[in-house]
Amino acid sequence: MIGIIDSGIGGITIFREILKSIPKGHFIYYSDSINNPYGDKTKEEILDILDNIVSKLITMGCTIIVIACNTAGSIGVSYLREKYKKILFIATVPAYKMVYDNNPQGKTLVMATKGTIESEKFLELYHKYDNHNTSLLSCSGLAELIENNKDVSNYLNELLGKYKDIDNVVLGCTHYPLIKKEIKKVLGDVTFYDGSIGVTKELLRVLKIHNIKYEYDKLEIKFIDSSQNKFKEKRFWELLK
Ligand code: DGL
Repeated sequence: MIGIIDSGIGGITIFREILKSIPKGHFIYYSDSINNPYGDKTKEEILDILDNIVSKLITMGCTIIVIACNTAGSIGVSYLREKYKKILFIATVPAYKMVYDNNPQGKTLVMATKGTIESEKFLELYHKYDNHNTSLLSCSGLAELIENNKDVSNYLNELLGKYKDIDNVVLGCTHYPLIKKEIKKVLGDVTFYDGSIGVTKELLRVLKIHNIKYEYDKLEIKFIDSSQNKFKEKRFWELLK
């Protein structure tokens, strides 16, 4: 069983990509909306939250866990790998390397939570692939607006208004691909990069090298939301269609 974790609905942007490659897998999607947003929490708080969710998923039979959240992945994956040695963890981090691979000359904006932008893991990645034409932007509060299905236009106009002639936008939070259209309204015809394809490739690679069965007769998905909000569940299935 494969567990997928996010601070809410955003991880679905990774999960949808995984389902293209594993259409008959067995999954548990854990939406931790009671603790949303993760982005402004301290490292200790994030590790505590992750410990709690990971223990639950292990009890439910997960042996592989995908951290479909850049904040939790950037801050917590090394800790989790160290603590839960028998569990395989795959984590998303902002897809900044894709800029290096595809359009390193381009003027680039990395949008992510404060927690991700300030994390050691992201900063290491950023310095490794720095194209010296990149702005890093902490988008405090944006994931929360998306999570609660609120209008983001005022927020984006204010936050992104000063960025001109951007070519590449790294969506360094799994909630952000849900508002690509709204971002384009402010920044124009930019190229987006996110971690969904990279995480899916890494998951398949890990499943194969460990010889783990991941195809069954039919797809099974269990959805859990920590705030037990029925609206979240409804939105989850709608976004999955
Ligand atoms: N989807 C999470 C991420 O990728 C959202 C962060 C939050 O809850 O603030 O970072």
